[in-house]
Amino acid sequence: MLAEPSAIDARHVPEPLFPAVNAICRISAGLSAKIAQGPLGQSLGDHVGGTGHGDDQKALDVIADEAFAAALPGTGVRYYASEERETAIDIDPEGRLALAMDPLDGSSNIDVNVSIGTIFSIFEARETAEASFLRPGSEQIAAGYVIYGPHTALMLTFGKGTLHFVLDRQTRRFELVEQAVSLPARTREFAINTSNYSRWVKPVRAYVDDCLAGENGPRQGTFNMRWIASLVAETHRILTRGGIFLYPGDERPAYRQGRLRMVYECAPIAFIIEQAGGRATDGSTPILSKSASALHARTPLVFGSSNEVTRVATYHDEPEDEVSALFGSRGLFRA
Ligand code: AHG
Ligand code: MN
Ligand code: MN
Repeated sequence: MLAEPSAIDARHVPEPLFPAVNAICRISAGLSAKIAQGPLGQSLGDHVGGTGHGDDQKALDVIADEAFAAALPGTGVRYYASEERETAIDIDPEGRLALAMDPLDGSSNIDVNVSIGTIFSIFEARETAEASFLRPGSEQIAAGYVIYGPHTALMLTFGKGTLHFVLDRQTRRFELVEQAVSLPARTREFAINTSNYSRWVKPVRAYVDDCLAGENGPRQGTFNMRWIASLVAETHRILTRGGIFLYPGDERPAYRQGRLRMVYECAPIAFIIEQAGGRATDGSTPILSKSASALHARTPLVFGSSNEVTRVATYHDEPEDEVSALFGSRGLFRA
């Protein structure tokens, strides 16, 4: 029997990671085809339950999670953690890798034909699943995301820059299109869900107010805004043309630490962004220096063009009463 062709060229992937990364690529290529069927295929956006840690589950969330889990035996993965599972599962006691995934990111966009994705993070496995995943993001050995958009793309890092691949739908193989993605340091475009404005922490409100103040404000110019509600799609736009993304903490009880999860959303995105020359923080502290306190723990997330992420941190450095003074006529960046 002929061996199945690989879904990514082995030359682009460190050898110990190849079976796992290849399996992720193979399953992602299959998901891409399924998603492209839209309403002609099976219902993917139907509500099927909840995760038990605060999220709705759609049919495609579960399909994706089960497809990745089923592909992992024999790929060197010891532990698999997923947004869709309460605890990590054991795949193979001999495996050397710990893989965390958001199998389907942006599930509110499944039904509306807007880009969605898959995010993954790989650590070297330790003795327990907890010890493998609850550690600083800087210890990741690989991270990537797949975006299912007008075309399907993969951004991948092993800590030596960020590689950009595009799925060839004919061959079901991800082809390298860019060897060293580079994110512009400056930007005039921000992404945040402004419907939460009244509940954001003060430094973020002050930052956005200053962006909105226009020609006569402290930023002396206008800013554009985007909000897609798929983290992968925002990340892809920012990696392509620059920008800043913020999902801060807010006053809603479950959102004090924002919405996004450290292990399988924020840490891998931060690794990919930093390897492309950008920055990622929780507002002030680098995401990659932080460890999650639990598998599904959330963290505020600010990432993108380095100058802009640095600027957001300066608002967080101000004492609370000074930050509110930024709303007035004088403050950090005002003349
Ligand atoms: P998921 O679909 O994996 O639960 O993730 C959704 C996330 C992320 O993709 C996006 O940035 C954010 O939730 C959207 O949040 P709002 O619904 O608050 O806009
Ligand atoms: Mn997600
Ligand atoms: Mn998800």
